[in-house]
Amino acid sequence: MIGLASEPHHAWLEKHGVLPVTYGPGTAVRIREASGGRVDAFIDTIGEGYVALAVELGVRPARIDTIRDWKAATEIGAHTYGEGAAASAVVLGELARLAARGRLEVPIARTHPPEAVQEAFRALERRHTHGKIVLRP
Ligand SMILES: NC(=O)c1ccc[n+]([C@@H]2O[C@H](COP(=O)([O-])OP(=O)(O)OC[C@H]3O[C@@H](n4cnc5c(N)ncnc54)[C@H](OP(=O)(O)O)[C@@H]3O)[C@@H](O)[C@H]2O)c1
Repeated sequence: MIGLASEPHHAWLEKHGVLPVTYGPGTAVRIREASGGRVDAFIDTIGEGYVALAVELGVRPARIDTIRDWKAATEIGAHTYGEGAAASAVVLGELARLAARGRLEVPIARTHPPEAVQEAFRALERRHTHGKIVLRP
C-alpha cells in the first residue's frame, strides 16, 4: 500500500506498513516508481485532481473512491463512499472491535478550549494536521 504525505509524516506511514510517497509536482512518476507501474485502487481524501491522477495511473473508475471530488466522480463513474456510507451500526461495531484490539489508532493532533475554536479551525484549514483536533469543554 502506498500513501501520499509530506516528508515529516513518512516515518509514521512506514511504521504502519505503508510505503510513503511525497505529493506535489511529479507525484504520478513517484507513484509509478513505487508501485512498479501497477496501481489497482485509489482512495482520494483531498480532491485537487487526484481522481484524474488515478485515471492517469490506469485505475478503473470502479476502483476509485473520493470523499471530496463528487464532480470528477460523477463524470467518470467513480465511488463517493464517505462517512455517510459508513454510518451504520455494523461499521461502528467493527470500529469498536478494532479499537478494543488496539488495531485502530486515532491520533489526537492538538486540543483546544472552546474559546479557542477559531485557532482550531485555522489549524484545520492549513490541512497538515496529523490526527484529530479536539475541542475540550
Ligand atoms: N465525504 C466525507 O464523508 C468526508 C468525511 C470527513 C472528511 N471529509 C473531507 O476529507 C478531507 C480530509 O479531512 P481530514 O480530516 O483528513 O483533514 P485534512 O486537513 O484535509 O487532511 C490533512 C492531511 O492531508 C494531507 N494533505 C494535505 N494536502 C495534500 C495533498 N495535496 N496531497 C496529499 N495529501 C495532502 C496532509 O499531509 P501532510 O501533513 O503530510 O502534508 C495531512 O495529513 C477534508 O477535505 C474533509 O472535508 C469528507
